[in-house]
Amino acid sequence: MISVRHLSKKFGENVVLDDVSFDIEKGDVIAIIGPSGTGKSTLLRCLDLLEHPEEGSLSFDEENYDLPKLDKKGTRSLTRRTAMVFQSFNLFERKTALQNVMEALLLVQKKDKEKAREIAVARLTEVGLADKLDYYPKHLSGGQQQRVAIARALALQPELIYMDEPTSALDPELVNEVLDTIKLIAKQGNTLLLVSHEMQFVKNVATKVIFLEGGKIIEKGTTEQIFEDPKNERTKQFLARNNIHPGPEYTI
Ligand SMILES: Nc1ncnc2c1ncn2[C@@H]1O[C@H](COP(=O)(O)OP(=O)(O)OP(=O)(O)O)[C@@H](O)[C@H]1O
Ligand SMILES: [Mg+2]
Repeated sequence: MISVRHLSKKFGENVVLDDVSFDIEKGDVIAIIGPSGTGKSTLLRCLDLLEHPEEGSLSFDEENYDLPKLDKKGTRSLTRRTAMVFQSFNLFERKTALQNVMEALLLVQKKDKEKAREIAVARLTEVGLADKLDYYPKHLSGGQQQRVAIARALALQPELIYMDEPTSALDPELVNEVLDTIKLIAKQGNTLLLVSHEMQFVKNVATKVIFLEGGKIIEKGTTEQIFEDPKNERTKQFLARNNIHPGPEYTI
């Protein structure tokens, strides 16, 4: 079990995350939804140590990481357990798809070259890119680049994968191939914490949903609970604005 506890983050006087706590079970696909500017990206960035929260901890089973107080060793230990898929892919432009996936296996996990190559080829094959191993990012479509980024995250066998709107930088016709890839890795039992505004996708893939507004968790529950029977008015309004209409269909 992974737990986030009392996560709080301010930018100056602006409280962006206010005492956020939730649990993640192995194999969960948790979608964080909510209006723009509500702290969704900041939440992932704090957990991935790209921002420094004032308060908050992340624990994996018995191992607790107090985020504001992490030393070098704690930072290294935590970052090895997680991986992030960015909206804008963040691939190395001067490396091929294969080299992008091999990079952290060689440098962080100290795998030998043959083993790293074997893992990278397997992961790239899984995301449908077996024929693109030697392509540079600029010769790949956005959807293909994002699939390389997903293969790179998977290759490290992280216990938790973060994704921040992984399809929002893509042309509409490329969104589905990436959503299908995410669906596939969710089915494989990977644990995902993702921010998405693709409500139909969230409905189909997420096991749990967190509705965040104004830096606070307004409501959380199973996807079914949140989409079919939201309790909070603000959740209801947000879902309605996104064309999700909960509740049974009444026939008169
Ligand atoms: N580096 C920063 N410096 C100052 N303020 C920031 C910084 N990053 C984010 N913020 C502020 O924190 C708040 C939350 O931003 P965040 O990007 O987490 O929202 P979000 O929910 O991801 O929004 P969106 O759905 O538009 O991506 C916003 O008010 C934003 O302006
Ligand atoms: Mg965001």
